[in-house]
Amino acid sequence: RHEELTFSGIQPTGTIHLGNYLGAIRNWVAMQDEGNCIFCVVDLHAITIPQVPEELRSHIREIAAALIACGLDPDKVILFRQSQVSAHAELWWILNSIASMGWLNRMTQFKQKAGKDQAEASVGLFAYPVLQAADVLTYKTTHVPVGEDQRQHIELARDIAMRFNTIYATEFFPLPEAVIPKDAARVMSLVSGQTKMSKSDQDDNSRINLLDDPSLISEKIARACDGLGEISGSQEDLATSPKAENLVRIYAALAQEDVGKVVEEFGGSATERFQRALADRLVAELSPISQEFQRLLSDKAHLDRILAAGADKARSIADPILDDVYDIIGM
Ligand code: ADP
Ligand code: NA
Repeated sequence: RHEELTFSGIQPTGTIHLGNYLGAIRNWVAMQDEGNCIFCVVDLHAITIPQVPEELRSHIREIAAALIACGLDPDKVILFRQSQVSAHAELWWILNSIASMGWLNRMTQFKQKAGKDQAEASVGLFAYPVLQAADVLTYKTTHVPVGEDQRQHIELARDIAMRFNTIYATEFFPLPEAVIPKDAARVMSLVSGQTKMSKSDQDDNSRINLLDDPSLISEKIARACDGLGEISGSQEDLATSPKAENLVRIYAALAQEDVGKVVEEFGGSATERFQRALADRLVAELSPISQEFQRLLSDKAHLDRILAAGADKARSIADPILDDVYDIIGM
């Protein structure tokens, strides 16, 4: 009954890495031709951990440029930044009064990000998943393409939507569904294979950044393959080496092949052959993106215009929905 609408976001907290690309952005690009897609640079989320203003300002433009360089077309999708559409923050506040502390206390990402000293974490970091629910519900979103790490947050958005609908005896909000890719749902650190590849990892060798040049990509892959011996000839054996499994999954996702097929192709042979093939794939996929990124970033005014036009379009959808929400709750 609800019209299909796709929404997702990315934080401007650093440069885009392979996990963002394979886990989320590549799916966004694939979905854009189906229409009704909204993608957002979530700057309000970024400030839940301390940011340097000048760096944040550049990161916002860089992320927008990177998304376009990855293939998002601002003529086909709405591309904007969160803080330019006030409905997100307004609905956040309303939903803060719907969500319970108990629900938020269960969020594993908060625990990871807050670390040992939770009392020092910002209130914003704790309420982050509610803002995410607001991002999604502000557009009556039905589909949210994200990586595996966001599954719990989308579940929370569903719970919040359901509770709102129940309290106000309405079917106002559709229940948003996470759309998670099969092989690259959780790209892991190249160094440990144990934690997810992330913008915030201190060790740059842990990730491939979309803008790494070919020699750096080769170096990082060589380092990641160092000491692996050979790639296992079976998927069961592969699972005993998280580092190797991660690399094979990355290869499979890039080649759009089954993991089984990749194991068949490279299993039992020296890692050098796999290492070269993986680096070649990465360079072939990322070099054009990197070049387009540099070109886009040379015209900052153009990027700002794209984001401003996107914000106008986003507001024209979000504001009437927010008006309805105020009406439903008696304001
Ligand atoms: P980060 O965690 O690197 O700061 P964001 O929180 O901005 O990235 O996430 C942007 C999108 O990228 C989300 O959909 C998230 O699920 C996805 N994503 C982030 N890291 C990974 C990863 N290592 N593997 C797969 N998807 C990821
Ligand atoms: Na994340």
